[in-house]
Amino acid sequence: MAQDKEDVMTHSMDCIPGDGAFSYVSYNDNTLFVDQVSVKKIAQEVGTPFYVYSQRALEFSYEECAQAFEPLGAGIFYAMKANHNQSVLKIFARLGAGVDIVSIGEAYRAIAAGISASRIIYSGVGKTADELTKALELGIYQINVESANELELLNEVALRVGRRAPVALRVNPDVDAKTLRGTTTGKKGNKFGIDITDALPIFERAATLPGIALVGIAVHIGSQITELQPFRLAYMRTVEYWKMLRDRGIVLPRLDLGGGLGVWYQNESPARFQSWADVISEVTQDVDAELSVAPGRALVAHAGLMVATAVYNKRGNDRGFLILDAGMNDLARPSLYGAYHHIVPVERQANEAPVEPFDIVGPVCESTDAFAAARLMPPTRDGDLVAFLSAGAYGSSMSSTYNTRPLIPEVLVRETVYAVVRPRQPVAAMIESEPLASWLEDGGMPVGMRNNAQ
Ligand code: LLP
Repeated sequence: MAQDKEDVMTHSMDCIPGDGAFSYVSYNDNTLFVDQVSVKKIAQEVGTPFYVYSQRALEFSYEECAQAFEPLGAGIFYAMKANHNQSVLKIFARLGAGVDIVSIGEAYRAIAAGISASRIIYSGVGKTADELTKALELGIYQINVESANELELLNEVALRVGRRAPVALRVNPDVDAKTLRGTTTGKKGNKFGIDITDALPIFERAATLPGIALVGIAVHIGSQITELQPFRLAYMRTVEYWKMLRDRGIVLPRLDLGGGLGVWYQNESPARFQSWADVISEVTQDVDAELSVAPGRALVAHAGLMVATAVYNKRGNDRGFLILDAGMNDLARPSLYGAYHHIVPVERQANEAPVEPFDIVGPVCESTDAFAAARLMPPTRDGDLVAFLSAGAYGSSMSSTYNTRPLIPEVLVRETVYAVVRPRQPVAAMIESEPLASWLEDGGMPVGMRNNAQ
């Protein structure tokens, strides 16, 4: 992991960094609060590690997004892969959001949270026949098809099910999103979308297939995009393409512009919803189609923290290790992408001693289980609590149970109260979900005998 570069301002710990993005997080009497709820109190009652989300922050970012897109009449389809907790989905559902999904499992989660199938867009490169069948049976609003093969399969499935599939074809416009390599999706050579230069015969075919109702064109070029220029370029290419199709008699009533808007993690100054919407407005001026966007991260990242205990402050050769009770299985982004998360003490010392560099790591038996290298932290003792900022997106939803570490609780704060919206997964439940092969059960048939019987 690369050594972190931090600016001095963010070391002071006088306030929560992040350019005002964390207005719901503050120190009160030197202890961290999410809205009016003490993080330490939650830690004592729920145990660490856990995720905590602020309902106010979630509502605030959704409202900001909705206001920006309202004049365009654009639909907001929250990319629920960023955070699929039922309560988070319910909050957005109540505010009128649809969702962008990438598996049929996500469809069921969304429907359970009260989002109707008619407000679901189904994206993803590898949808199976079974998933496509279920999507059609559910009556999903739009299926974003990413290859000629998928189109043919969907046509067959649709004819079998007896429903025409509402399809947008996702193009790959070959634009560099200028983001992490792991989160670029709209560049030639990425697995996503149909190369825009090869797409025409596929659009023409889609327009004639009896099981397909070709309704749109979709584009999504990547994630954590902080500049507007890649968006502008990708949208311009897509709009040009839409017009070219129109001139050839293929009139598409929908234009799906995907997600990807970045957020503050370290020292970025990302564009906000309004300037993203302005670019869309400008580029789509003479397009007569219904617009939709699918932001994920920008709606939830700031609204969540991950809280962990520093189990051991262990002396290393040249600097100390802070070994946390949270690991790469709980928050994968740093180990997976080298992503930066700001880490702040939950209990701030009034007269802060000088910061010192720590390698902040997890307990998982992997050297890549590290959150930060040489991170400057105030003195931290065994048992102190720390909070990761910007952890509401791609945190919990990407977690795993590696090392038989149960999925950690998720907590939702609403002003002065909190609720556990996903309890810590019991280890017993993990074990019970694995039935033994019959021949391994005590008293079961020995392996050799079973082979002989066949
Ligand atoms: N639409 C499609 C088709 C997508 O693939 C994605 C994200 C989104 C929308 C939402 O993008 P967002 O607004 O959240 O940037 N795990 C990575 C991010 C992966 C993003 C995958 N696709 C991370 O932790 O940074």
